[in-house]
Amino acid sequence: MKKDRVFEKLTMGVCYYPEHWDESLWDSDLRRMKEAGIELVRVAEFAWNKFEPEEGVFTFDFFDRFLETVERHGLRVILGTPTATPPAWASHNYPEILNADIRGIPYRHGARRHYNYNSPKYRALTQEIVTQLARHYGRHPAVAGWQIDNELNCELNEFYSESDTAAFRVFLRKKYGSLDELNRAWGTVFWNQTYTSWEQVFVPRYTANNSTNPHEVLDYYRFISESACSYAKLQSDILRAEISPDQFITTNGMFRNLDNHRLTRESLDIYTYDSYPDFAFQLTEDPLHSDSLNDRKWSRNLTETRSVCPHFGIMEQQSGSPGWNTRMEAPAPKPGQMTLWTMQSVAHGADYISYFRWRTSTIGTEIYWHGILDYCGKNNRRLAEVRQVTQKFDAIRDIAGAEYQASFAVLKDYDNQWDTQTDKWLTRVDKASEKGWFNASQLTHTPMDYLYLRDDTALEELLRYPLLVYPHAAILTESRAALLRSYVEAGGRLVFGCRTGYKAVTGQCVMDPMPGLAREICGAEVEDFTFVGPADDPVHIVWDGTPLDAAVFNDVLEPLDGAEVLGTFDSNYYAGKPGLIRKKLGKGEAYYFGAAFTQQAAAEFLRRFGLAEAFSDWLDAPSGCELALRKKGGKRWLFVLNYGSQATEITVKHPLRELFSGETQTGAVTVAKYGVSVFLLPEVEK
Ligand code: GAL
Repeated sequence: MKKDRVFEKLTMGVCYYPEHWDESLWDSDLRRMKEAGIELVRVAEFAWNKFEPEEGVFTFDFFDRFLETVERHGLRVILGTPTATPPAWASHNYPEILNADIRGIPYRHGARRHYNYNSPKYRALTQEIVTQLARHYGRHPAVAGWQIDNELNCELNEFYSESDTAAFRVFLRKKYGSLDELNRAWGTVFWNQTYTSWEQVFVPRYTANNSTNPHEVLDYYRFISESACSYAKLQSDILRAEISPDQFITTNGMFRNLDNHRLTRESLDIYTYDSYPDFAFQLTEDPLHSDSLNDRKWSRNLTETRSVCPHFGIMEQQSGSPGWNTRMEAPAPKPGQMTLWTMQSVAHGADYISYFRWRTSTIGTEIYWHGILDYCGKNNRRLAEVRQVTQKFDAIRDIAGAEYQASFAVLKDYDNQWDTQTDKWLTRVDKASEKGWFNASQLTHTPMDYLYLRDDTALEELLRYPLLVYPHAAILTESRAALLRSYVEAGGRLVFGCRTGYKAVTGQCVMDPMPGLAREICGAEVEDFTFVGPADDPVHIVWDGTPLDAAVFNDVLEPLDGAEVLGTFDSNYYAGKPGLIRKKLGKGEAYYFGAAFTQQAAAEFLRRFGLAEAFSDWLDAPSGCELALRKKGGKRWLFVLNYGSQATEITVKHPLRELFSGETQTGAVTVAKYGVSVFLLPEVEK
């Protein structure tokens, strides 16, 4: 197995819980999986008691028997380490392993993920169970790979136990060395928070108005991420030492307060995401919400996933309607939607698709989280659809390892992501622009990537894109500013939005004129700034006669030497003043746009830069279809995904082979409701 690309071909799997069913069902379940085209079965991630029913007593009979059956059917498993659900004996004997809420009240046994990453006892118990499993199954021929835990930071992504406070102090001592430094970084002179001994420092606690020191909270999010990464590494270190190099290591899900890039680099061979687009149709959502992309929004999460790991997998792909007995109600996926959502994942770079779950649970809180089969297990339309997906996979198996082709990238970084979480003002602009750029990219058929700036990000990674957008980098560091400057000088085009560069890495505001370290790059200075209020007239920035929405927040600008004013505000007390400035720098150019980006504004940038409608040489499609291209060597697959409940027409401009029908198509072509077409473009030089 090549660790840089785990799947050699597009592969199908399923999630299965042998412990939920009578053993007499295993044989026929596995036979039917195999017949449907399933090759891998993810198991055991919540089954700690089956391996260690009492502390220190290990038994493998149950899963040994299951794996024998798996082998007999020519299938293999991904084995979960069962640490997402500590056994009752552990929660009972060692209450210190429990996570707590912000008031310090522990979460009790009964749900899942109630442990904390920093309890020395939980880490010891983890070490033991993972070592035992790795030794027993690390060479088993039916084990293809391992899943660490399940959905790190799902259910709860904040940790307030005593072990967390102890570990937070260690983290802070290492980071700051002294209390003086910590006091400076957290600005504790404000409201007399100055610490005079480490024993006074805690993870954030219950405070008046729920307003804890924001610089502390920013460090706290960094600490949670560090804790989750180190907990995963505890497990991956054991696995790497014990298991065969042919078995891969992954984990699943994508949750907040976690640097998934670091997690993947340190601990995984492949990152997997759990994709549940049917959430878009929950009964609580407003169905009339006009610009909502509904299930198509999951392409945004897949774009994030691809930034973490270009060749990823989907460990849990929706097959039936979602629901717990306590929350979440939504209609069942319509015929075709399971295929559509599968292909959405594949179009974005998934080489592995594993459905959640084989048969719907008859027990527990997830009795309404429907799998492929219903409780009775008889053949149904969803199983028939899985079989059809297998046939479609047969037509595109060799797509594994092909790269998604983006026309531009939106820059992100964890400092800003976590600082924005602490900051209501930034959250408002950030949310608007995240949606604005994503929707514009989708609706103008201009595929985008996210690119996370990290300490080791190389200029070459930036230069892959002709356009980079850094919507609201409030925190801008010297090294990131230098990297961005080099990108522009080398010929890149960079767009900043409002609220750039006014904070340091601590989250404290800087006293330099805004936009701080971006000022020299884009040749703009912020003279004044304000939210656009509900009583204000809508504001635009008029660029060559075209009004662009200047939504949410406005930075009123002044050009510096060598910069040009491209657009001015059309209303509010700053009407006529500059709102869009460009500076040519080296071979490239940088823009400062003094607002958040709506879909309209972002789409206008894409059009003006000649990037919109990236596939118009090949076909025209209505905005209701997503278009995506993957490329490997000289081979190119162009996906057309119709999310609509009506069939739609596209225009294919040259005869192209459509791989699912096997036909060559040209001219007006119908794509069925919830339908997917994949066209093979003519080969190009590698
Ligand atoms: C995922 C989780 C699964 C299952 C599923 C449906 O988040 O990994 O174990 O709970 O959601 O709720």
